[in-house]
Amino acid sequence: MSALARRLSAALFVVFLAGAMLPASAETELERGAYLVRVVAACGNCHTPKGPDGRDLPGMELAGMSPFDSREQWDTHSPNVTPDPETGIGTWTDEEIMRAIRDGVRPDGSIIGPPMPFVLYRELSDSDTRAIVAYLRQLPAVRNEVPASVYRVPLPPAYGPPVASVPDVDPDDILARGAYLAGPVAHCIECHSPMGEHGPDIEHRLNEGGFTFTGPWGVSVSANITPGALERWSDEEIAAMITTGVRPDGSRMAPPMPYGYYAGMSNDDLDAIIAWLRHPTAR
Ligand code: HEC
Ligand code: HEC
Repeated sequence: MSALARRLSAALFVVFLAGAMLPASAETELERGAYLVRVVAACGNCHTPKGPDGRDLPGMELAGMSPFDSREQWDTHSPNVTPDPETGIGTWTDEEIMRAIRDGVRPDGSIIGPPMPFVLYRELSDSDTRAIVAYLRQLPAVRNEVPASVYRVPLPPAYGPPVASVPDVDPDDILARGAYLAGPVAHCIECHSPMGEHGPDIEHRLNEGGFTFTGPWGVSVSANITPGALERWSDEEIAAMITTGVRPDGSRMAPPMPYGYYAGMSNDDLDAIIAWLRHPTAR
């Protein structure tokens, strides 16, 4: 082979490699948004109305669940976030929707209450939040009037200073990615930390379990998922529990963990979440 031919074939090989690596980065904003909303963030677990079998009602994606969550402190209804101009968020701008998701403030300045997980959503990256908004924008508009929530506890005036800019996590740092997915995106850590004075005590009792949920399924209590508790399971067994809701012994896990949504999680993201759960101090 001539020197030129060798250089050419080396160059072609590099082009080929770059091509092989393209799919991950070639994901469009809308595809990323669909994956976040429908899989990892599972917004529909709270915002899509369910039938008596617990499954999402067809044709009602993110059209609001009413009633949603009732406890001593509140009776909430999760709003219709489809583009319907009257009963949904069709008249809000992209920036206004981003502000609602991360800052917990509506366009009229009113504060949005729990259990929408604002403390964590504040850390959603700019590009992921934009992708989520892009997905919400193209949903079919559903006309569905949802009553306002009633809070018997005062809501904070704000969840913090306005969110300015949040960069993406380094995709090559598996623990940082796992922390981001299990925290701001999937909020595993919120459901899996016991209730403290001001909500789940993520700061002192991270992932210790003990958060109680009451619903049509009865009462369920979130499990301890600290490294010690997870030691008895392999990574494959934990991944199967997250994506199927079935334990290695064949027993079924109760709602409201969104197993059905998590079923679509990529192996890369599952690996990152499990790696981080086993080393949560790396957060
Ligand atoms: C744990 C349940 C829960 C999850 C998960 C959740 N939400 Fe919410 N969301 C709520 C509740 C409840 C409200 C209304 C609170 C209130 O009435 O003040 C709300 C309010 C909103 C609002 C404001 C709408 C309005 O008209 O006031 C938007 C927008 C929104 N959610 C979008 C999302 C998106 C997008 C996701 C996923 C990334 C998501 N939510 C995940 C429970 C949830
Ligand atoms: C909306 C609340 C909620 C969210 C979000 C949630 N979980 Fe859970 N999880 C629960 C509850 C409740 C149980 C207990 C179910 C039962 O006992 O049947 C549970 C059980 C589990 C178990 C089984 C452990 C055992 O000992 O049986 C694992 C593992 C787990 N969750 C991991 C996760 C991970 C990882 C995420 C995020 C990707 C997550 N969970 C998100 C509520 C939640």
